[in-house]
Amino acid sequence: MLAAYAASQSASDPLSGLVIGERPDPEPRPGWSVVTLKAAGLNHHDVWSLKGVGLPADRLPMVLGCDGAGLDEEGNEVIVHAVVASEGWHGDETLDPRRTLLSELHDGTLAEKVLVPTANLVPKPAGLDWHTAACLSTAWLTAYRMLFSSAGLTPGATVLVQGAGGGVATALIQLGAATGYRVWATSRDEAKRARALEIGADAVFEPGVRLPERVDAVMETVGAATWSHSVNSLRPGGTVVISGATSGDAPAKAELTKIYFKQLRVVGSTMGNRQELERLARLVDSRGISPAVDSEFALADARAGFEKMVAGDLFGKVVITT
Ligand SMILES: NC(=O)c1ccc[n+]([C@@H]2O[C@H](COP(=O)([O-])OP(=O)(O)OC[C@H]3O[C@@H](n4cnc5c(N)ncnc54)[C@H](OP(=O)(O)O)[C@@H]3O)[C@@H](O)[C@H]2O)c1
Repeated sequence: MLAAYAASQSASDPLSGLVIGERPDPEPRPGWSVVTLKAAGLNHHDVWSLKGVGLPADRLPMVLGCDGAGLDEEGNEVIVHAVVASEGWHGDETLDPRRTLLSELHDGTLAEKVLVPTANLVPKPAGLDWHTAACLSTAWLTAYRMLFSSAGLTPGATVLVQGAGGGVATALIQLGAATGYRVWATSRDEAKRARALEIGADAVFEPGVRLPERVDAVMETVGAATWSHSVNSLRPGGTVVISGATSGDAPAKAELTKIYFKQLRVVGSTMGNRQELERLARLVDSRGISPAVDSEFALADARAGFEKMVAGDLFGKVVITT
C-alpha cells in the first residue's frame, strides 16, 4: 500500500526522513480492525516524529498520521481514535502511562489502510463528510477536552486562544464560538487574524499586546513564545490550559510568582478519550461546524502538506485524501 512514513529522523531537517512510498498491507489481528482510509489529517505530531521527538529511532520505519476516517472491514463508516491503550488497561486511556498514539508504536493513518483496535472505531455520523471526519481525531479532540473538560468554564466566559492559525487553535475558535464562549485569539499574521474573525473569533490581537480586559482562560499550544502573555492575560483565579509547545517548552520566564500571586490554575491536557471523540463528532455534525481546512493533498503529494506545517504557513487543517 502507499503510505507516508518516517524512514529516518532529523531535528534540523525533519523532511529529509519523510518517504512517500510502498509499505506492506496491515496483517489482520484478533481484536483489531483494518480500516480502508478515505481521508487523513496532518498534525504537528507528525513533524515531531520526523524530528525524533516521541518516536524512538528503533521503531522506524513508521507510517505517520494520527487522524483518519474510512471504512471498516464490514463497510461501516468510521472515525479512527488515535489513543491506543496498553493491554489490560481500564478507564480513561489518556491516563494510561503506557498508552501510545497511532504512529508511535503502531503504524498510523497516512496510508491507504491502517490497523487499529476495534474498540478505537467511532461511528461516523452520516452527516459528516470525509474531510470533516478526518480532522477530528487529534487536534479537534484535543481542543474539545481543553475547552469543555480541562478549562472548567461555562458558556459566556472569555477565552484567549494563542497562535490562531494552528490545527488545535482553529478548532478551539470554532468550538468555542459554536457553544457560547467569547473567543479572543492572537496570531503573528494579519491575514490569519482576519481568518480567525471569519471562523468565529470575537476579537483578534497581535501576540503579546495588552488585552482590553483579563480573560477567564487561555488555551496555550504555542509554548515558550506566548507563555508570559498567557499568564499576564489571565484574571485572578483564571486558568491556562496547555496542550502543546510548538515554539519550545522552556519559556524565558516561568512566571511562577504571578502564577501563585494571582492564584492561577495551570492545567495540562492531552488528546481526549473515545467517548469525547464520539461526542465531538456528534457536536460537529449537529451544529454544522465545518473545520477550517488550510489545504488538501492526495497521499502521493503529502510532502507539500508537511512543508506547509514545518513552515508554520497554514490556517487550519491539512487534509490528505487516499
Ligand atoms: N497534547 C496533545 O494531545 C496535543 C494534541 C494536538 C497537538 N498538540 C501540540 O499542540 C501544538 C499545535 O499543534 P497543531 O497541530 O495545531 O500545530 P500547528 O497546526 O503546526 O500550529 C502551528 C501554529 O502555532 C503558532 N506558532 C508556531 N510557532 C510559533 C512561534 N514561534 N510564535 C508564535 N506562534 C507560533 C502559529 O500560529 P500563528 O501563525 O497564527 O501565530 C501556527 O499557526 C503542537 O506543539 C502539537 O504537538 C498536542
